[in-house]
Amino acid sequence: MDLLIVDDESSLRDFLSIVFEGEGWMVEVAPSLGEARAAIQKNEPDLVLCDLMLPDGSGIDLIREVKAQNPSIAFIMITAHTSTKSAVDALKAGAFDYIAKPFDIEELKIIVRKAVERKELEDENLHLRSALEERFTFANIIGKSAKMQEIFSIVQRIARTTSTVLISGESGTGKELIARAIHYNSGRRGKFVSINCGALPETLLESELFGHERGAFTGAIREKRGLFHEADRGTIFLDEIGETSTAMQIKLLRVLQDRVVRRVGSNVETQVDVRVIAATNRDLNESIQKGTFREDLFYRINVIPIELPPLRHRKEDIPLLVEHFISKFCTNLGVPQKRISTDAVRAIEKYSWPGNVRELENVVERMIALEESEVLTTKSLPEHVLLGGRIPDTTFELPPEGISLQDHLEAIGKIFMLKALERSGGVQTQAAELLRMSFRSFRYYAKKYELISKDAKQEEVVEVEE
Ligand SMILES: Nc1ncnc2c1ncn2[C@@H]1O[C@H](COP(=O)(O)OP(=O)(O)OP(=O)(O)O)[C@@H](O)[C@H]1O
Ligand SMILES: [Mg+2]
Repeated sequence: MDLLIVDDESSLRDFLSIVFEGEGWMVEVAPSLGEARAAIQKNEPDLVLCDLMLPDGSGIDLIREVKAQNPSIAFIMITAHTSTKSAVDALKAGAFDYIAKPFDIEELKIIVRKAVERKELEDENLHLRSALEERFTFANIIGKSAKMQEIFSIVQRIARTTSTVLISGESGTGKELIARAIHYNSGRRGKFVSINCGALPETLLESELFGHERGAFTGAIREKRGLFHEADRGTIFLDEIGETSTAMQIKLLRVLQDRVVRRVGSNVETQVDVRVIAATNRDLNESIQKGTFREDLFYRINVIPIELPPLRHRKEDIPLLVEHFISKFCTNLGVPQKRISTDAVRAIEKYSWPGNVRELENVVERMIALEESEVLTTKSLPEHVLLGGRIPDTTFELPPEGISLQDHLEAIGKIFMLKALERSGGVQTQAAELLRMSFRSFRYYAKKYELISKDAKQEEVVEVEE
């Protein structure tokens, strides 16, 4: 760590240099503000010990100046004049602490140690925060479909407000991702706290959300802060809100109305400043009809509704998502970037993705883990995706927008070719016979659809058989 000592008394500079070099610091010294500025420009120190009265001005001005540029440089003020005013001014300007001359060196060492601890904590927070913010910038939320673009635009417009948001959508559509994006673009300084309301029994959920007093129930050995408190000045994400009991819904309604929470076992209500985002994969209107969800709570949370469409209704996003996940997993694994064949992308597009983006993400991860070559092909796709994607609509209904007969016939052909290959244990001549096809044409289509391996050792043997 680098330390800069700014003092016009050379004997003090020397003494402090020796002491802190002994403590493992890289020490630089400056006798004036001018030289201090130059030293900071040249080599940004972690900590500055700074005299108050210097020949060319006040140390407080230096603190102000430097803090405005680089808030992570810490200052400790050294002052001969124990006026409380200058001490207060130094702290206001952003100094970590001050010490009056003459001082006990051991005392100064303690202050320095504390300043370092604080700085490390702050640097770490800064780092974590920016890393998180980066993950939830829109660059990492993929979607060019009109539906997703509209959602991004809503998110951008409402992020900075405190309005309650209700995100609905099937499992894996990205509800939590959107909730985090709202929080990290909100400018709110508190935490993002997430809880799955469907995963806990009612009494536990209550003490998780609101906290409890010591002895509020058996097992409550010590008092506990609730998640609403944790999320103060931040955001709470109430996932699967549709799964809560109606008794719990009344309690949530109270928080949403008055922004006060009461710990279990306490009479005291405390104010919280929390942005609420709720999510559900149920149709809450249906739950209201059935009497399992309170209508008044619904209106409280449904201030800004965001509906995430299932992946099968925004197929144009699929190629982008695939690219995104390929690059993400290759980077994570530290392997060179892989590509994917057009046929594989087409097969992926045709599958219905009941598990939505999460399922797609898992499939891509698996493909990358299993495929050694640089190109991902249909061979590395799981069978259910491959087959599922190839089985045309079995109802044989003609949808309003029509179909491509060519694609459907092709899809049926692929299914039978795969099944024939399966039955023949991969022997193409037999598979071709089962389908009354010539070997040549079977091999041509099998290659085209990437049903067979392109490293052709086995095929050569087969070719000899022909
Ligand atoms: N548009 C998107 N762009 C990039 N990644 C996405 C997108 N949507 C979802 N994901 C990723 O898919 C996975 C599932 O998303 P998320 O957990 O937000 O879904 P969810 O709707 O909360 O699901 P569940 O209802 O199962 O809790 C996450 O890894 C997320 O990063
Ligand atoms: Mg979720």
